[in-house]
Amino acid sequence: MPISIRPLTQFIGGEVSGLDITRPLTPEEVATLEHGMDQHAVLVFHDQHLTDEQQKAFSLNFGPLEHTAGGNVTKAAERRLDAYMADVSNLGADHKPLARDDRRRMFNLGNRLWHSDSSFRAVPAKYSLLSGRIVVDRGGRTEFADMRAAYDALDDATKAEIEDLVCEHSLLYSRGTLGFTDLTEDERRMFTPVRQRLVRTHPVTGRKSLYLSSHIGTIIGWPMPEARAFIRDLSEHAVQDRFVYRHAWRQFDLVMWDNRTTMHRVTRFDETQVRDMRRTTVAGDGMTVAQQEAA
Ligand code: OGA
Ligand code: MN
Repeated sequence: MPISIRPLTQFIGGEVSGLDITRPLTPEEVATLEHGMDQHAVLVFHDQHLTDEQQKAFSLNFGPLEHTAGGNVTKAAERRLDAYMADVSNLGADHKPLARDDRRRMFNLGNRLWHSDSSFRAVPAKYSLLSGRIVVDRGGRTEFADMRAAYDALDDATKAEIEDLVCEHSLLYSRGTLGFTDLTEDERRMFTPVRQRLVRTHPVTGRKSLYLSSHIGTIIGWPMPEARAFIRDLSEHAVQDRFVYRHAWRQFDLVMWDNRTTMHRVTRFDETQVRDMRRTTVAGDGMTVAQQEAA
């Protein structure tokens, strides 16, 4: 059966059928998916009963995997999954939901804020691939906003104003927004802010997009409150209904998204229920600030 992709909204999201991603893909199949990603920015696959090894193998079709170190406050000995699998569940190593006041849980609540994965890393992520191993039936949706459509809809004066702006991103900022500031000296050092351009150009399509994320704490050269107020305005613009696809999970869905052109967040759910979500991340290939200098 050939691969087909059905658009899910006007701008963002495509539902893939006719492909079993638990087995190795042909180069043509990989090219079809890359092209689908360039068009839709988010692709949804149903009924993919993946093991962690199969999820990593599928992800490697799109580039090297990002290591999870530096992106969380979970100690190596407490990990449930290996170091190339981001544990996006609400579970501890014993597979039980974390206590309400567990600091790992409080830290992970940052995923409730709109963000782009690894925008806090000097070289931020290309794709994320999230597999729903055990899903909840109320809440716990993942929402995606199209930062290309959001950019296109800005007026010309705003586009000109933001063209060369550079922001500082850090997990300190996104967690600080939620009032989670209980961090060790080592964690603070690990979360040292990095710089990212506010406007990115997609390497294949050439389309521009807003590179927004709750990890942003300021704009270089701006007073912080003015920067934050402006970033908030841009973010409110960017997550209007018409730019958003809201994914209601079925067990064994895999959703992949392009972090260069989208933001996402998870919605609230009953955290006494098990929600076992596992993410692989395809590494990006350069710093956004270097990209534009070279252009
Ligand atoms: C992620 C993430 C949201 C979710 O995997 O990067 O933000 O639905 N997940 O758990
Ligand atoms: Mn995320």
